[in-house]
Amino acid sequence: MSTTSARTSYDLERIRGDFPLLSSTMRGNPLVYLDNGATALKPDPVIDAEVAYLRDISANIHRGVYELSERATVLFDQARDKVKRFIGAPSDGEAVFTKSATEATNMVAFGWGRKALGPGDEILTTELEHHANLIPWQELARQTGAQLRFVELGEGGVVTAEAVAAALTARTRIVAITGMSNVTGFMPPVTEISRLAHDRGAVVLVDGAQLVSHHPVNVAELDVDFLAFSGHKMCGPTGVGVLYGRRALLDAMDPLLYGGDMIVRVYRDHADYRGAPERFETGTPNISGVIALGAAVDYLEEIGMEAIARHEEQLLEYALGRLDGVEGITLYGPRGVRRGGIVSFNLGQVHTHDVGSVLDNEGIAVRTGFHCAQPFMRHLGIHGTVRASFYLYNTRDDVDRLVEALGRVREVFG
Ligand SMILES: Cc1ncc(COP(=O)(O)O)c(C=O)c1O
Repeated sequence: MSTTSARTSYDLERIRGDFPLLSSTMRGNPLVYLDNGATALKPDPVIDAEVAYLRDISANIHRGVYELSERATVLFDQARDKVKRFIGAPSDGEAVFTKSATEATNMVAFGWGRKALGPGDEILTTELEHHANLIPWQELARQTGAQLRFVELGEGGVVTAEAVAAALTARTRIVAITGMSNVTGFMPPVTEISRLAHDRGAVVLVDGAQLVSHHPVNVAELDVDFLAFSGHKMCGPTGVGVLYGRRALLDAMDPLLYGGDMIVRVYRDHADYRGAPERFETGTPNISGVIALGAAVDYLEEIGMEAIARHEEQLLEYALGRLDGVEGITLYGPRGVRRGGIVSFNLGQVHTHDVGSVLDNEGIAVRTGFHCAQPFMRHLGIHGTVRASFYLYNTRDDVDRLVEALGRVREVFG
């Protein structure tokens, strides 16, 4: 497949044909996969890239002078270039491979935050965050004496630039905010938030775990200092993530782990470290995962992130329209604002796990519970939701099957 130009029209049937799991049945029904917020299905080119490395190369990178090692190194380095291009990272060394978005936020909290923050400094975040972008900051605050503060949420969990401006102070050192909520799909105005934070001298970390897989992202345009995301939510494999960081910030940051590959020279009692990204990638990395992530980037770029975002936007609109008509449903999240393809709801008093089980019986995979966002659940005054999250391969028919199956839930639970 060409990586340079997006397909001209959105060929949903062809896209679906790329994902082997989409032709499978679950509990005797064709699978409807609506748990993309948790992880995405993998297309053949990604599976093939990972298998090809394991089967035909298998060698370690950056170490051997023999052909197999050189081949592995070339593919690994190419994957980094693809990821950098995908997010518009302007200079070399700014895309660090991690094992997940969670590892990436932790690297910033402890590698940057422990040095940059002290008692009385402030970390600004929101109650909308996934725990991966909250707990590292709680722990950093505990360790440094900094204070964790929260932007006031608007109706349905909206974060406005005005609310961020009101919460910023001269002591704010970092604004750590989601690019897209994993509960409602709400997308805060990141560019404006970055401008406000920078005016106050604070750095900005965006949790891009949902954003990067569903929308075109350019770190230079967003003007963010750090961006954390996971490969598995963007059609890549599990066990690989990315931390983008501005070069100057990465250069001043301590690694979380120490060992081989990150060094220039080692003496008995000290060592000289390499610059980013190698300084943060000690030990043998997830080579097959990184190479497959590169294939995922190629795959998404060939379809086009704009086209994917548009498809999901249309599907969301259709889903909200259909779900609005379901008796007894409560839908969460703001309307009339920029949102990714995620719907969270409850059906009367039926427990979310019961709803999920009935849907599962119909071959429909959704996520139920608190979605690693307990403070936001508390803000909404609920214990959890049923979440249907869409991706590039979902169809109106999937939404219709969901709505039909919710009728079964009402039959079973009254
Ligand atoms: C918004 C958000 N941030 C962070 C994460 C954590 O990603 P990972 O588990 O891949 O580290 C998730 C995962 O669901 C998420 O949805």
